[in-house]
Amino acid sequence: MSVVRKMLQYAEVKPGEVVYDLGCGDGRIVITAAQEFKAIGVGVELNPKLVREARAKVEALGLGDRVQIILGDLMEVDLSRADVVTMYLTTGANERVRPKLERELRPGARVVTHDFSIPGWDAEKNMRFKEGYRTHTIYLYRR
Ligand SMILES: C[S@@+](CC[C@H](N)C(=O)[O-])C[C@H]1O[C@@H](n2cnc3c(N)ncnc32)[C@H](O)[C@@H]1O
Repeated sequence: MSVVRKMLQYAEVKPGEVVYDLGCGDGRIVITAAQEFKAIGVGVELNPKLVREARAKVEALGLGDRVQIILGDLMEVDLSRADVVTMYLTTGANERVRPKLERELRPGARVVTHDFSIPGWDAEKNMRFKEGYRTHTIYLYRR
């Protein structure tokens, strides 16, 4: 969770901004974006079990009007509304998503990735930090 907060802080998420998490897992990034940063969250996840878990958390926290969890392939979701996109995928997946980000993101939109960079893009900045025994890297890109 501390990495999640760092990613959102690194992107300087502001109230009312729209945050997409591509491959949202249990929804923790979009839920934190809504709860702590007053953003609108959209999570996309392929795994139905994780989608059920994420939706149940959204419901339990009363965030249904601010967080949407989409069951589906992140490659199929329109990103033109996004102010910020977060990803914790792999370098290969980031490479596959890159042309989609280039086509759909509006100028100025930010992309934050965890541990894996986006091949072919120059990060505006990155930071490495230790959390327990693990070292994490966060990359920030701007369209
Ligand atoms: C490492 S987890 C990250 C979860 C969450 N973003 C986080 O940081 O806590 C990656 C997630 O991406 C999902 N995923 C992988 N490929 C996907 C695709 N093409 N469309 C949607 N979700 C995908 C996986 O099912 C997995 O839940």
